[in-house]
Amino acid sequence: MTTHESVPTLSLGHASTPGLEIPQIGFGVWEVPDTDVDAAFGRALEIGYRHIDTARIYGNEDGVGRVLGREDVDRDDVFVTTKVWNDDHTNVPAAFDASMGRLGLEVLDLYLIHWPAPEQDVYVDAWTAMLDLQRQGRVRSVGVCNFQVPHLQRLLDETGVLPSINQIELSPYLQQRELRAFHAEHGIVTEAWSPLAVRAGLLDDPVVVELAAKHEVTPAQLVLRWHVELDNVVLTRSVTPARIAENFEIFGFALEDDDLEALAGLDRGTRTGPDPDTFG
Ligand SMILES: NC(=O)c1ccc[n+]([C@@H]2O[C@H](COP(=O)([O-])OP(=O)(O)OC[C@H]3O[C@@H](n4cnc5c(N)ncnc54)[C@H](OP(=O)(O)O)[C@@H]3O)[C@@H](O)[C@H]2O)c1
Repeated sequence: MTTHESVPTLSLGHASTPGLEIPQIGFGVWEVPDTDVDAAFGRALEIGYRHIDTARIYGNEDGVGRVLGREDVDRDDVFVTTKVWNDDHTNVPAAFDASMGRLGLEVLDLYLIHWPAPEQDVYVDAWTAMLDLQRQGRVRSVGVCNFQVPHLQRLLDETGVLPSINQIELSPYLQQRELRAFHAEHGIVTEAWSPLAVRAGLLDDPVVVELAAKHEVTPAQLVLRWHVELDNVVLTRSVTPARIAENFEIFGFALEDDDLEALAGLDRGTRTGPDPDTFG
């Protein structure tokens, strides 16, 4: 059985406190109503998750803060991420303070720019403000979500500092090879959102179903294990107690080369979420 001590961690290099590590599996709360966060995140902590992913736009930072503030929860044991929304790119310090107030935290582990929103064209200003927060010690690491290669390259060219992590839509149906190669070349950790591509039907794909049967695991566990073997951080989300437990049991088996090859063949390059080049 997986325990929180047995979850692997990855090092965050750029724009981070030296030595900072992130647990390779995290619990996301997108679309979880604030009033339901107590039960879902509470259950996740009981099972062993020690990494929570929220955002201002999810409207549930208060709920995450309520759980982190419980007497039986050691805040220092949990890696906490939140994000700045598109309408706050020129207002990062105030947006950060407001999120920290809702979360009830003094220091955050990871603060992310949620989308590049390239038509607004102020994400470099937002990044500069994020770096200031990190230098001031208010957040241990800063990164981005949904940045494409040209957006990352521009941060490097204009500020000289790359994000520690890029949180992107990623699944066997959307493998993002070019972007992941850029991450690998530049020491950026890849973090996967919507890793199960539920809305695209990945869990019913015959290849996934067959490999899951071979390993005597569920399709969701098979796909989450694929992410781990790619050295991604993977975020899962469920409000169903049995699935919260199921999604955490992915460290007791390994995929073989043939399995990885079959899963590599599933790439369709299609998104279930917005296109970062046009969204926002
Ligand atoms: N940065 C961004 O732009 C961005 C965008 C999207 C998401 N995210 C983050 O990434 C996290 C994960 O993405 P996601 O929420 O789309 O996650 P996901 O795990 O791909 O999808 C969650 C959905 O899958 C279902 N599910 C979960 N485990 C399952 C299982 N074992 N078997 C069958 N169905 C299962 C859940 O249903 P039930 O809840 O009914 O069990 C829920 O409907 C989010 O919560 C959020 O923190 C970030």
